[in-house]
Amino acid sequence: MRSVLVTGANRGLGLELIRQLAKAERPPRCLLAGCRDPDGSRAKDLKDMAKSFPNIKIFKLDVDNFDSIQECADQILKVLENNGLNLLINNAGINFGGGLNEVTPETMMQSYRTNVVGPMMVTKALLPVLQRAAQLSDELGISCKKAAVINMSSILASIELLGETAGKVYPYRASKAALNMVTKCLANELKPHGILCASVHPGWVKTEMGGEQAPLTTEESVQGILRVLSKLSDKDTGSFLDWRGQRLPW
Ligand SMILES: NC(=O)c1ccc[n+]([C@@H]2O[C@H](COP(=O)([O-])OP(=O)(O)OC[C@H]3O[C@@H](n4cnc5c(N)ncnc54)[C@H](OP(=O)(O)O)[C@@H]3O)[C@@H](O)[C@H]2O)c1
Repeated sequence: MRSVLVTGANRGLGLELIRQLAKAERPPRCLLAGCRDPDGSRAKDLKDMAKSFPNIKIFKLDVDNFDSIQECADQILKVLENNGLNLLINNAGINFGGGLNEVTPETMMQSYRTNVVGPMMVTKALLPVLQRAAQLSDELGISCKKAAVINMSSILASIELLGETAGKVYPYRASKAALNMVTKCLANELKPHGILCASVHPGWVKTEMGGEQAPLTTEESVQGILRVLSKLSDKDTGSFLDWRGQRLPW
């Protein structure tokens, strides 16, 4: 891959994705890190990392704000020159829980905005650079090396597995299930353009969102995710996979 964009790259899984991609044997030439407040204290680790890896470029990107998405897309277009974007990882997300007693219109709407509308609008704004990467690639078939959109989903979105996963978390579950539908629709629409699209569940991971009791470290989860992404091909577009590459039911 020559170029990768990760949204929500200042902490948690996003930061670890940037770290492992930067340290890879053959790192991407352009490692684009989207972060909603690059000047704030929450971006310190990302900025420190960027000092050691000149291929990391940090962009202000608030996926809730459509002007911010367009401004970021315009800047990325300039940075990539005419080379296109191989891989977009829509990682930024929020987790509002709550059963029927706790849920509010605000937590439902905010979850949809960040977890569904945001990734979709980021993909829409970056479609020209993804298409450009697909056109320039001499890879056979579709893959993350050519052009791909990966949506960070969750096993909690699976309707079929609802009984096996704990917690009344209406806003999160409903928004990630909707994100999965976006993945499916994008996969259908973008396949003819040579762009792969899949939803990935990273496992239950120790981050601010996952909490301390989670069994997986960010290192383990991201190692798995990157291994899975490197193997995706035509047959995987429109699928829902976990960090070990296992298919999850919708
Ligand atoms: N951890 C888990 O166990 C787990 C399990 C399943 C799925 N996931 C999914 O994996 C992804 C990453 O999760 P994580 O555990 O790393 O979560 P996290 O530690 O809470 O980090 C979330 C990231 O998303 C960013 N973000 C939130 N709203 C944003 C917005 N409007 N614009 C731009 N960035 C925004 C945050 O930036 P700020 O610092 O600015 O808030 C932060 O960088 C999420 O999509 C999550 O749903 C995680």
